[in-house]
Amino acid sequence: MCGIVGVLGSHEASPLLVEALKRLEYRGYDSAGIATVHEGKLGRRRAVGKLVNLSDTLVHNPLPGKSGIGHTRWATHGAPSVDNAHPHQAGPVAVVHNGIIENFRELREELAAAGIKFVTETDTETVALLTQMYLEQGQDPVTAARTTLSRLDGAFALAFLFDGEEDLIVAARKGSPLAIGHGDGEMFVGSDAIALAPMTDEITYLEEGDSAVLTRTSLEIRNESGEIANREKRKIQIDTARVDKAGHKHFMSKEIAEQPTVIGEAVRHYLSTDGSGIQLPGEELDFTKIDRLTMVACGTAFYACLTAKYWFEQLAGIPVEVDIASEFRYREPPISKGTVALFVSQSGETADTLAALRYCEGKADKILSVVNVPESSIARESDVAFPILAGTEIGVASTKAFTCQLTVLLMLALKAAQDRGAMTEEEVSNLLIKLRALPGTLNETLDCEAPLAEAARKLAEARDILFLGRGLMYPLALEGALKLKEISYIHAEAYASGELKHGPIALIDKHVPVVVLAPKDNLFDKSISNMQEVMARNGKVLLITDKAGAAEGSEGAWQTVLLPEIDPVLSPILYALPAQLLAYHTAVAKGTDVDQPRNLAKSVTVE
Ligand code: M6R
Repeated sequence: MCGIVGVLGSHEASPLLVEALKRLEYRGYDSAGIATVHEGKLGRRRAVGKLVNLSDTLVHNPLPGKSGIGHTRWATHGAPSVDNAHPHQAGPVAVVHNGIIENFRELREELAAAGIKFVTETDTETVALLTQMYLEQGQDPVTAARTTLSRLDGAFALAFLFDGEEDLIVAARKGSPLAIGHGDGEMFVGSDAIALAPMTDEITYLEEGDSAVLTRTSLEIRNESGEIANREKRKIQIDTARVDKAGHKHFMSKEIAEQPTVIGEAVRHYLSTDGSGIQLPGEELDFTKIDRLTMVACGTAFYACLTAKYWFEQLAGIPVEVDIASEFRYREPPISKGTVALFVSQSGETADTLAALRYCEGKADKILSVVNVPESSIARESDVAFPILAGTEIGVASTKAFTCQLTVLLMLALKAAQDRGAMTEEEVSNLLIKLRALPGTLNETLDCEAPLAEAARKLAEARDILFLGRGLMYPLALEGALKLKEISYIHAEAYASGELKHGPIALIDKHVPVVVLAPKDNLFDKSISNMQEVMARNGKVLLITDKAGAAEGSEGAWQTVLLPEIDPVLSPILYALPAQLLAYHTAVAKGTDVDQPRNLAKSVTVE
């Protein structure tokens, strides 16, 4: 899952390409490169590592030209290296690619049999080599690119640039998003509209199977059958300002601190004008007609769904299935009548979630999504997209998007509960009062940063860490473990507290810290019994609870962190903060790259 961009401009392309790649770095950051055509000749610059390395290369070795393509990479085939970095060039053609060419082995064999040599380990090189072969057979650049496209299986967004063609880019999408930007005598292409925002706000989204021929003054789009296709040109509102760290050391810390504000905004967005009820934006949803809710997502968004399952089932009485998108899509589950499918995604571009959504098209009664990026593919392809209003999230470890997802999902569950008569107006209104007060309670929670940072410094020495939770705290335990492993690289696992004795308890010894998330709720006593079982085996328990919980259950704990008291229904939103802060401070203590951890990317646009 990489980011691609193309520019047919009226000024030098390099700075525009680099700025666009900065905006696409969330898709991958293990190498980057650009190619331009200048005085009829293709030139390339590539560098391993973050984009800043490519910028440095360009300072010492500039690349002139007003037409160009660029790429920021998350390696799929071939290690991060200069050779494997895009653009890939084969003679007179250069190519940038996001996705995976699934039949690249067959294509490689075919090219090798024709005596063609490879210099990279990537699937993308086959695209460049095939195009070169068709050019050598006498095809013109557009035909050569189209013939190549007809040979490719898999998911891809591609842009081609040619020697001697300073007013031509060929682009195509199948399975990976691609946007065309219209300028004044200029034309652009990019993985998303955000990348193109500094250059234009007029965007045409390519649809599945589309290919496009761009010049500075024209755009011709053909559908998969090769027929001319008319695609809508839209005016997009995207903030062009790049987000800064606002005095924080890392984006993650800034995003953790922003949660009281953005959650407050999300709550307000879904409140009726007088603040007493819930008003859903867009089309009216009839919750009384829903027999079953199928929720699908990946990673942190999946844990938001697992949490919401408790809310939809317990508050609204709707049976809920929750699935990991990559499993759901290939299991091809039957979708019965009366099922509504709900997809949760920060980026709205996660390939597995998008494919699961497409699987549900025509099967589910309605397709809903809860997304942060309103112009994303998942938002655009849903019947109703509920925004979470978290604002741009830069840190690869999702924080504020998770709690905003929880907030919006809770408000949907409350609306469903009220519409279905599972809760009275008064009961809903009481919870809404607490939700409105939540930003204040979250601010108080952020004041617990010091003891969490102290605990984190000790956790940083551990090799394995366990997280335990029951009920609504179980998905949070999973989220806490995911957060910790992705940024601190410490092995962490989470279990439903009651499950520990069925196997994982064998892991416990004095070297394994166990984080127990246990507010004083109806399951507290059971959680504390499980915690005792850990301590009886010399496990070191970090108990995260409230004052009442500490009074009853903290004896013998290695460390206890006190959070404000909260209505149990709202507790996952609050308890997410200490889980995030623990992971953050552990990573800081270990000196890892908090915002761009190794091997990861913010948006996972490949399977
Ligand atoms: O953009 P999405 O919400 O669809 O992304 C899903 C996961 O890739 C994402 O939540 C991932 O697990 C995060 N790095 C977690 O912090």
